[in-house]
Amino acid sequence: MIGEAGVPIVFEGRPPFADDPTGSNDEYIGAVVVGYWRGCLPTPAAVVVDRASGALTRALAGSHFAGEEGDVLTVLAPASPACERVILLGLGDEAELDPARLRRLGGIAAKALMESTGGRAVIGLGLDGFLAAQFAYGLRLRGHTPLNLRSRPDPDRPAGPAEIVVATSDPDAARNLFSRLESVAEGVHLARDLVAEPANRLTPQAMAEQAAALEALGVEVEILEDAALKAEGLGLLAGVGQGADNPPCLALLRWRGSGEEGQPPLILAGKGITFDTGGISIKRYDSLHEMKGDMAGAAAVLGAMRALAGRQARVEAVGVLALAENAVSGRALRPGDVLRSYAGKTVEIIDTDAEGRLVLADALAYACSRYRPAAVLSLATLTGAVVTALGRHRAGLFSNDEALAAKVLEAGEAADEPVWRLPILPQHDEDLASDIADTRNCAWGKVPDALHAARFLMGFIPEGVAWGHLDMAGTARTEEDLPLCPKGATGWGVRLLDRLVAEGWER
Ligand code: BES
Ligand code: MN
Ligand code: ZN
Repeated sequence: MIGEAGVPIVFEGRPPFADDPTGSNDEYIGAVVVGYWRGCLPTPAAVVVDRASGALTRALAGSHFAGEEGDVLTVLAPASPACERVILLGLGDEAELDPARLRRLGGIAAKALMESTGGRAVIGLGLDGFLAAQFAYGLRLRGHTPLNLRSRPDPDRPAGPAEIVVATSDPDAARNLFSRLESVAEGVHLARDLVAEPANRLTPQAMAEQAAALEALGVEVEILEDAALKAEGLGLLAGVGQGADNPPCLALLRWRGSGEEGQPPLILAGKGITFDTGGISIKRYDSLHEMKGDMAGAAAVLGAMRALAGRQARVEAVGVLALAENAVSGRALRPGDVLRSYAGKTVEIIDTDAEGRLVLADALAYACSRYRPAAVLSLATLTGAVVTALGRHRAGLFSNDEALAAKVLEAGEAADEPVWRLPILPQHDEDLASDIADTRNCAWGKVPDALHAARFLMGFIPEGVAWGHLDMAGTARTEEDLPLCPKGATGWGVRLLDRLVAEGWER
């Protein structure tokens, strides 16, 4: 199921083994996680667990485990406590413990716990309520199983824990905070699953149905189908989608959480190209299959809307998904074609592979004229150029507003999704001049294209509206396991958007 919930995570005041490390009570524990600071200094729970048998001390003596952040040593079948395994987790320097580190440690523990074969897992790190919730958030983010379409379950894959107990000095505080963070994690998982879905299963229509599923959480959803796009004049979105057998559409999601009428909303718009062949300007073959993920911007917006509704955020938000398949066919858009946009501007198509900016431009102009927003954000796997410039650890941020840009930068840092600002210059507009139309969709041969793409979008934002744009082509997928995300789709952007709302817009 898309966006499925993980194993239950609960908080308890005392870990089950605390009073009885010999395990003579009846409960069988699958795994126990205990912490060591830098230099192998044991936390109190580690001392308790080791006391009866000395198994941890003996294991440490024969290992390279040093208590550095992320060090893991698994001790199988210790004589006591009665559990399958004890996982020693390096916590790093005791002095600089911060929430981001706790989230990473939770992610590292989640990976180690996946090796266990069932039962309850108990985390005894001696955390307060706030840090316990952060740790659990990391557990939840990393613990998500990527979409698996194999016909048979993998026989070698361990079951993993059935439930995870995080011991904390303040279970109520931990539960409170975690229930909010868990909604965000669910949004992240939804986004990851959608990005992983292949394009034969996730068409623009199927993605719109995923949006409609949020009605169950109180989100108002409206879909503009192909005919409506044409009738309303969204010529860029209709044009990009015209070559595909799966028609384009625009999904509008509205969350009215502020409890006040007439508040201007925050608009979140996402590029939702369910597959990008490049169109007639066809792409080369080498990593074409990855273009099933060219809807990651729309997935992030959908995930963020799910997070906001799930945690009942006190905010007015509108999610806009520009959904289309960029296909090759006899009906496909051609280089040289001129389209009329919703905003009225005509656009000469130079390269049909620069399709994301086209669909987003119409989505942005339509949403701005309909909702009169307080601010607008666009998210898109927009350009290869941003990957060349920034690599895979940071997305590119563009903005026409200093205050909004500062908030986005801050939210990115706080949410473990850092961004790097790039400029939009007047020269980029000149580069987009067309001989035949109001503008062209790319400045063929001029670099860097990420900046031209952003400048193109900016031309569709009404005067006076604060706008931020995130080019996430490099961060939507990861080729290696990260502390908070297994290899594959990252669900990038959901956490940043949630944080931005929480810090900047919520009442
Ligand atoms: N979806 C691509 C951008 C992309 C590239 C995303 C790599 C993820 C990984 C976008 O539609 C595209 O094709 N951009 C072109 C623009 C060019 C034709 C002006 C690009 O970046 O090459
Ligand atoms: Mn493209
Ligand atoms: Zn694309």
